[in-house]
Amino acid sequence: MREHGTQSWRNPWVRWSVVSLVALTVVSLLVGFVWLPSVHGDFAAQGLWASICRAAGVPASWSGEAPASRRAPQATDVVLERSMTRVGGSAAVGRGATLALNCTMCHGAQGMSASAAPNLAGQYPEVVIKQLRDYKAGKRASPIMEALARNLSDRDIADLAAYYDSLPKARTAPTTYDESLPALVRVGAPLRNIAPCISCHGGVDQKLGAPWIEGMPRDYLVAQLQAFRSGRRGNDGEAQMRNVARAMTDAEVEEVSVFYAGKASAGAAK
Ligand code: HEC
Ligand code: HEC
Repeated sequence: MREHGTQSWRNPWVRWSVVSLVALTVVSLLVGFVWLPSVHGDFAAQGLWASICRAAGVPASWSGEAPASRRAPQATDVVLERSMTRVGGSAAVGRGATLALNCTMCHGAQGMSASAAPNLAGQYPEVVIKQLRDYKAGKRASPIMEALARNLSDRDIADLAAYYDSLPKARTAPTTYDESLPALVRVGAPLRNIAPCISCHGGVDQKLGAPWIEGMPRDYLVAQLQAFRSGRRGNDGEAQMRNVARAMTDAEVEEVSVFYAGKASAGAAK
């Protein structure tokens, strides 16, 4: 009886079950804490400890991980107000025009971009205000625009919005039902919960804060839709655009971008 312990160890069944239990534990630890975390897209090989913390669900900030460049997009903290649409007065426009000299290189002399930067001419003032505040607060990622917006005061931002509002949208034509429209623009895709673009972006209705997108560069539109789809851009209030873009295919992103970009030449011809 006293030799019970060693005797049972001599029993091959006991020996094998102990050995397999140990082996199984080691394999699951390797799979769960090393292999699975390492195949995640944003794995940064920061050592076993970081992997263990990640796998266990410890917030990155606790384990000292979380470099600023990989921070998740944050929700906007700008509250849209009707009053933002009432910027203006000739003093504000004049001051905005002076400030805008720093912006012409990319956004064009008259707010019509010749590159992949967005047009600003005629953009709704609340959009310019909201986006500049989001860049300034790091809620919308763009190294160029975050750096530029950091130096703008609230007054600068309001005056820039007034200036761009004073420039004509006239070179781009608004969208109407009287033309041939991609299905997503006209009716959306109810089965996939996509509301028609025309119900928020003008044509039928313009939701406060939804930008004027007619005539925007194609590459810019594609890039923004992809960013909303992947969640890289997450400054849209209540995920309005992420919910739309998430269900869109590459072909649809291309189709609506080409459609809206094409409005520039249609408007210019008039
Ligand atoms: C070096 C080029 C460059 C300069 C200079 C520049 N921008 Fe931009 N701007 C961009 C790019 C590129 C984007 C799109 C970035 C993104 O993907 O979010 C952008 C985006 C914006 C947007 C968002 C527009 C929208 O439709 O969402 C606003 C507003 C804006 N810029 C205002 C300004 C103002 C005001 C200035 C001058 C103080 C300025 N920018 C100077 C390149 C520039
Ligand atoms: C429920 C309303 C809604 C619908 C439907 C909608 N959008 Fe938007 N969209 C918005 C809002 C609001 C924003 C601004 C988000 C923010 O504050 O950054 C936006 C932003 C965008 C932008 C970024 C523009 C810029 O200059 O920053 C693009 C591009 C865009 N939408 C395209 C589309 C297309 C294409 C469709 C149809 C497939 C669509 N949207 C449907 C509300 C909507």
